[in-house]
This record gives sequence, C-alpha cells and structure tokens, in this order.
Amino acid sequence: MQPVEIKKDIYWVGALDWNIRDFHGYSTPKGTTYNAYLAMDEKITLFDTVKKPFKENLIRNISKLVDPRKVDYLVVNHVEMDHSGSVPEIIQELQPQKVFCSAMGKKALVDHYHREDWPYQVVESGQTIQLGKKSVQFIETRMLHWPDSMMSYFPEDQLLISSDGFGQHWATSQRFDDQVDIHELLKHSAKYYANILLPYSPLVQKLLANVQALGLKIDMIAPDHGLIWRSHLDKIISAYDTWSLQKGKEKALIIYDTMWHSTEKMGYAIGDGLSQAGVDFQMFNLKYAHRSDIMSEVLDSRGLILGCSTLNNGVLPAMADVITYMKGLRPANKLGAAFGSYGWSGEAVKIITECFEDMKVELVDPGLRVKFAPSNEDLEKCAELGRKVGQAIKAKS
Ligand code: FEO
Repeated sequence: MQPVEIKKDIYWVGALDWNIRDFHGYSTPKGTTYNAYLAMDEKITLFDTVKKPFKENLIRNISKLVDPRKVDYLVVNHVEMDHSGSVPEIIQELQPQKVFCSAMGKKALVDHYHREDWPYQVVESGQTIQLGKKSVQFIETRMLHWPDSMMSYFPEDQLLISSDGFGQHWATSQRFDDQVDIHELLKHSAKYYANILLPYSPLVQKLLANVQALGLKIDMIAPDHGLIWRSHLDKIISAYDTWSLQKGKEKALIIYDTMWHSTEKMGYAIGDGLSQAGVDFQMFNLKYAHRSDIMSEVLDSRGLILGCSTLNNGVLPAMADVITYMKGLRPANKLGAAFGSYGWSGEAVKIITECFEDMKVELVDPGLRVKFAPSNEDLEKCAELGRKVGQAIKAKS
C-alpha cells in the first residue's frame, strides 16, 4: 500500500499483512498491519520498522518519498519482532546516523540481533529531540507491554505514535478510524487489549493519568497496528479507561468442554439460573471457541463459570489451554465457580478451582460435580449455582 500522509510531512509507510491468522496464539481472522511512520524534516526520521518478511514493502514506501539513504534517524519504540524484525536490513540499507531507543530497548536489540556497533542513542522518558521544525518527546511505557516499550510524541503536530498501545489486528485498505465501521474497530481494539495489554491494566491507568498530568495535547494517536485514531480519540481513550479499571458488566461466561454432553447439560442448566437472576450470559464450547475470542468477552464479564469433564485425572486439553492462557492475562475483579461431570476420580473441578484461586477469582461456590450424567435433581443444583453466581454479580453493581 502507498504511503499515506497522516500529518503534514509525516507519512504512514508500513505494511499490510492480510494473511496472518495466528499471532502467537491470538487469532487474527482479518490479518494485521505493521505500521511505520516517516517524518520528513531537516532530520528525516523513521519510527519503527515492520516484520521481517515485509521489509521490501517498507523500503519501497520510503523510496516513494525520499532516497532511503537520506533517512537520518531510526526510532525503535519497541523491539518485539513484528516491529523490529527488519531493523538489521533497514540499518544496513538506510545507514541512519542514530538509532533512538530506551535503555531496555538497546539491551533488547543487542539480545535479538547481537550488534553492539549500531549507532544507539539511549533516551529517557521526557527527553526531547529536535528534527528541524518538528520535535519529538519520548515517553517510556515500561511493560506496556515489554520492558523496552516507549511512545513518541510530536508536540507541534499533537501526534502520539503509540507503539502497541491503542492498536488492533485488522488489515484494511483504510488507514483512519473514520473510514471504517467504528463498532467493528472498537471490537478489534477490545480483543487486542484483552489479549495483549490486560495484565498491565494498572499501568494503563498510570499512563492515562500521566498524559493528563503532563497536559499533552493529542489530536491523533498512531499505533503500530491497525487504524490511526483521528476522529474517535474520545471513544478509544474512554474504552481504555473502562477496560483497565476492569469493573466488568452484569454478565457471565460459561466456558466448558465436555466428553459425552453431561458437562454441557450442566452448563445449560447453570445458564437457566443466571437468566432467572437477570444476568446476561454467553456460552463457549471449547470445541468451537478460540481462546483469544473468549478473552474479548472476559474483558467486560464479571462472572466466569468454567466447566470440564475429568479425563485421565485431569481436565480436557482445550480447558488446560484456556486456563493457562487466561491465567497469564490476569483478569481482575471476577466472580467464579467450577463445574463438571466425572466417572470415578473427578479432579477437573478441583483443578479449575485451584486456577481460580491463583487468579484471585472470588469463588461463589466450592464447585459442583456430577457423577456420569446429571439427574433432574442435579440439574436443579446447577440452576441454583447459576442463580447464586447471578445474585453475586448483581450484588457487585
Ligand atoms: Fe506489536 Fe509487542 O508487538
């Protein structure tokens, strides 16, 4: 795709990846983009690069604006390889005078590419460099979402190049938020937040407070993935505030895997109980639902009800996958309960309950087990469990 001028003399020069479907375990059914930006000033500066297989797209885009050898500076806001994978070739090709990065960024670049000889310029949070008419202030955002992460702010243009923050995995031929359906854009943004940034939610709160305290004027946020925010900044900033506070809605998820449908029947009866308590719920059978789509719904659900049959003294493999993934993403302020059918040993409910305890999920019930197939009486106990969770969710409102 052609370069796109996003502000006067600042261009998107990145690459579209229409075909990626798995981003380290996160499903990307609509692909993604690797955004890089070129500021044309006395010092021509490239902000971030692209994933290695797309380096030609980046060089071609730069060439449409300027001889790549005339690029003076490279800024590496973040070293994860979707953004730095082509740094070695770009440095080789462009021969920049300086490579700006955080102290942790320099360490990470050396650990990835084993080049001590690049012209690193380590910058600190708040430091400003002059490109000519434009200046750039660096804002370190450690652990949002890597130790090296930082953002680049152009005060004269009121532009924030935000690295992974405010991004989405969505390849489109459009570059701006007002050129696409805002509801779909916010859905992709929520999925991105839930699967990448959720564990660092307290830091997102700090970042939002910091931006306010510094009085940074921002009228455009240009992330390194997906669409650029220029018309709906209020919506995405408010969404980040809501998501990072993790208060959740009056909503529960019933996430289960089942061998012979007994656990599934229990799940449906629990759903009846939630309905009776007046709480919305969604059911996810792990044979069909992807872990990263589930996380999108975990983001704003107050209740998590996980069910699994016992297989060989453990949980079914899909449940092991989801509880491992979810635990790593550290959702907060959840209420929960476990359930499942079993034949003779019945460890699955205990395993899920222990995982809930690790995740600091508030247990509404010690867990409900049914031997082989549920009777009508068992199903009534399941409905009662649903009502209990529903009432607890409502009590948190
Ligand atoms: Fe898009 Fe953390 O890389």
